[in-house]
Amino acid sequence: MVLKLLDNRWVPILAGLFAGLFAIAMAFAFADSLSERALLAARWTARAALPLFLIAYLASSLVRLWPGALTKTILKRRRQWGLGFALAHTIHLGALLVNILLYRPREPETLVAGSLAYAMIYVMALTSNSWSVRKFGKWWRRIHKTGIHYIWFIFTASYAGRIFHEDPGYHPEGRALTAVMLAALAVRITAWWRGSKARQR
Ligand code: HEM
Repeated sequence: MVLKLLDNRWVPILAGLFAGLFAIAMAFAFADSLSERALLAARWTARAALPLFLIAYLASSLVRLWPGALTKTILKRRRQWGLGFALAHTIHLGALLVNILLYRPREPETLVAGSLAYAMIYVMALTSNSWSVRKFGKWWRRIHKTGIHYIWFIFTASYAGRIFHEDPGYHPEGRALTAVMLAALAVRITAWWRGSKARQR
């Protein structure tokens, strides 16, 4: 039943849509003022997109470390999980635009790293198809590898920054989610190391 659901190509996309919209609904339900809603919507839409990112980021490593029906089904639908993440993060983009345009403008230079991540997300989403894999060959792999690690870096840097935030209320989630991001990297490195050892044999 679960496997059948996960094998459906629309499930990851709908999960991305639902996660982003649910985060916005929660921000509206929990905040009192419009500016607080905009802030919570930006914060929670990023958080809602994270699990989808992690599934796409870890799919191939999980199969290598724990081959089985579940991990194989996730890997089969990795493209769709990536698209689900792009959709959820587009909802973050909408929320953050409201936040920075209406309530808390930022210096252009502070927007560069995040904007580059969005450029990567959309290049990856637009080339997540077999035609692009054939057309761009080695470059497709390079672009997607660089892109996924860069997005990992932005998530990790965002959470690590919270560990040192002047408001201590940010510290627990900063610590917990930085640990999650580092654990995900450790899984990727372990899978890569096992794969390279197997190739040497
Ligand atoms: C120019 C682009 C971006 C801007 C202006 C932006 C803006 C924001 C804002 C206003 C918040 C809420 C801040 C708070 O809670 O005090 C936020 C949270 C966050 N954003 Fe973005 N963002 C951008 C791109 C990205 C990208 C590309 C990623 C990830 C790849 C990302 C990851 C996060 C994370 C992890 C949080 C914290 C969520 C949490 O508390 O769980 N952002 N962002």
